[in-house]
Amino acid sequence: MAIILGVGGTKGGCGKSNTAVNTAAELLRQGFSVGILDADKKKSSANWGQSRAEFIAYLETGDMSEDNEFIDLDVIKDTFTNNQIIKLKEANLEKCEYKHSLGDIRDTIKAMAERNDFVIVDVGGGDTKEFRQTGGMADILITPFKPSTFDTDTIPELVDALDLALDSRPNLVIKSLVNEVPNGGNKGRGKKLINLLQQYPALSKTFSTQIKSRTAYIDSLDCGLGVVDTFDSKAKGEFSCLVHEILEVAKEIGKLA
Ligand SMILES: Nc1ncnc2c1ncn2[C@@H]1O[C@H](COP(=O)(O)OP(=O)(O)OP(=O)(O)O)[C@@H](O)[C@H]1O
Ligand SMILES: [Mg+2]
Repeated sequence: MAIILGVGGTKGGCGKSNTAVNTAAELLRQGFSVGILDADKKKSSANWGQSRAEFIAYLETGDMSEDNEFIDLDVIKDTFTNNQIIKLKEANLEKCEYKHSLGDIRDTIKAMAERNDFVIVDVGGGDTKEFRQTGGMADILITPFKPSTFDTDTIPELVDALDLALDSRPNLVIKSLVNEVPNGGNKGRGKKLINLLQQYPALSKTFSTQIKSRTAYIDSLDCGLGVVDTFDSKAKGEFSCLVHEILEVAKEIGKLA
């Protein structure tokens, strides 16, 4: 049975989809099969899955299908050099299953869990039906936060929803992730955010890895890649560390040997 990772809870652009797709890319790179279920109206993760399928088909065949919705030669040329394209061909990138579903998503999660080692549910922001169902089925729920006051304002509402999830499933592991730490500016922001999260038991388990704000995260999305598939070694390093931590949690809860 697959390991189910939920990514969600927090509102407005704090990096839920970024975390979902980059985690998928690193798990695929490690040889796991992955399904990504986009349970958010915006379809960011499902579109990423389709871009990845279109880009891999181009790398494999050298042909650009007219049916492509997201990938064309201009997108590729704007994103990668010819040498980088050769390296990407040699990497034999793996596709992932992707689906978009809203409303009752439980059967879709179950079906994807039968076909994959991991199912990643990008569940959007706020206390929605999809979020509650994901809380009811996930092994690990990742809640990303940006170290900015606008993001942390929504914490009390989120904590109420998480406390309810924990009441019915005390074994659910909730891990907070600090995302988009600015490279310059106030260096204490990440630490301040962790201190704030630790005041709430439901959010107090945090990943040691913090994800910085890097253009590599934005550039890799266009072709359905994660930073681990591309060429920024710092971004690759930090995301590998994060996924290493996720796999350690999966081992601790007995879901991974
Ligand atoms: N670490 C990062 N570095 C640079 N850009 C990032 C990073 N994380 C996310 N982004 C960018 O910030 C924007 C918002 O991120 P993302 O879409 O992942 O957030 P979200 O929580 O899924 O948003 P929504 O609530 O709208 O679904 C996107 O353009 C994404 O590419
Ligand atoms: Mg999103």
